[in-house]
Amino acid sequence: MAVVVSSNGNGPAFEAKMTIYVFVCVMIAAVGGLIFGYDIGISGGVTAMDDFLKKFFPAVWERKQHAHENNYCKYDNQNLQLFTSSLYLAALVGSFLASAVCSKLGRKPTMQFASVFFLIGVGLAAGAVNIVMLIIGRILLGFGVGFGNQAVPLFLSEIAPAQLRGGLNIVFQLMVTIGILIANLVNYFTATVHPNGWRMALGGAGIPAVILLFGSLIICETPTSLIERNKNEEGKETLRKIRGVEDINEEYESIVHACEIASQVKDPYRKLLKPASRPPLIIGMLLQLFQQFSGINAIMFYAPVLFQTVGFGSNAALLSAVITGSINVLSTFVGIYLVDRTGRRFLLLQSSVHMLICQLIIGIILAKDLETTGTLGKAQAIVVVVFVCLYVMGFAWSWGPLGWLIPSETFPLETRSAGFAVAVSCNMFFTFVIAQAFLSMLCGMRSGIFFFFSAWIIVMGLFAMFFIPETKGVAIDDVPERVWKPHWFWKRYMLAEDDHQDVEKRT
Ligand code: BGC
Repeated sequence: MAVVVSSNGNGPAFEAKMTIYVFVCVMIAAVGGLIFGYDIGISGGVTAMDDFLKKFFPAVWERKQHAHENNYCKYDNQNLQLFTSSLYLAALVGSFLASAVCSKLGRKPTMQFASVFFLIGVGLAAGAVNIVMLIIGRILLGFGVGFGNQAVPLFLSEIAPAQLRGGLNIVFQLMVTIGILIANLVNYFTATVHPNGWRMALGGAGIPAVILLFGSLIICETPTSLIERNKNEEGKETLRKIRGVEDINEEYESIVHACEIASQVKDPYRKLLKPASRPPLIIGMLLQLFQQFSGINAIMFYAPVLFQTVGFGSNAALLSAVITGSINVLSTFVGIYLVDRTGRRFLLLQSSVHMLICQLIIGIILAKDLETTGTLGKAQAIVVVVFVCLYVMGFAWSWGPLGWLIPSETFPLETRSAGFAVAVSCNMFFTFVIAQAFLSMLCGMRSGIFFFFSAWIIVMGLFAMFFIPETKGVAIDDVPERVWKPHWFWKRYMLAEDDHQDVEKRT
């Protein structure tokens, strides 16, 4: 199979075929996204399993036994939240280390490191005999996530023929959602296996980790990374192999050129502090804050817990999580289809209104009908699940994939890897905050938590309206000229930079 990729009229079109080799490389690398998604989805189910709670969190288990004593607070336990959140804190640190490894050694070894971290982490977590082992396992998994999430999107962008980059980037998010769904299914089935179902659930991540480890032996290094590290001949050969055409000179020259410019920037992090880096940096960081404070992970991590809170039994709650997981996967395809047609802004704005309505309805039903004790009636509980599904749908075609896509396409090459690392670590930080705080917030604010998320959705919708420009169809290296310089707000930083350069030239 070799599909010739044609230009979409933006930027230089280099001749390329979508080769089987590129396809295989993309699939193997995207397994990194699958493991990330699996880790996101698995903790909620495991923390709802009695065998697991009895062993590691007996106090929470005790509280749960006095069923319906306090719906909103029965899972509130800092250590239980630490089980979920420790992974993201480790991933935050991991992504900075990974950014250095990515530049010094390449994308491929970074992915290999990720898989080794995953394997050891899975072994410790699934085999845990005490809470320390469990948390250390989660921390190693977190390092895996940090390394994987830094290397995989960069790898995908660099290996993809230019004209397929947007769609291939969202393959990462698609794999994340598939990972969450698989985790929900695994939770559903292992919940009935006593007493070691939770070990099977946590151990499941070992399968994709092995695929990533062995798979990453057969994938290539990206031409950009090879050339960046002065392995020009090898880079040229690899480019020829992945593009499937003889004449790759033009693309090769353009990579060499980009690497030359990038090599003049000795310290990309310093460069990130310059005014001209501010637009993509601020947007890249805020996108992560908004993505997480929209409340998505309150649902992804704690869906089974949340559904139990509104009155489903354990199994029905897990089943509902499987339903939200499927909707998450399917709706991501809508994002893949629309992102280059309607553009990024349309998706962000449409979904903000859409998600706001859903959160408000869920909040109102819970505020009206869910007492501290007792459960919702069947009908209301079903309405809650329906609105949770609609909410997930809106997120899946907008803030989910765009939180990764926009930071990967708005930095110039010289700050792309460093800027992306900052975005990844912000994502991990805010994910950590939500994972650590959600159950306590649910306990303290009760149904008010949904109004809290609603308020954030209003803020992010307004931010998108005024500050996030359209990048649809703009060649990645034209972004400063075509996007930032004409923008009503961001142009001030770009002009400041031009003035600054003028002054430097004159002196
Ligand atoms: C977010 C995750 C979230 C997932 C849901 C991703 O884009 O970064 O935090 O759990 O989407 O599908």
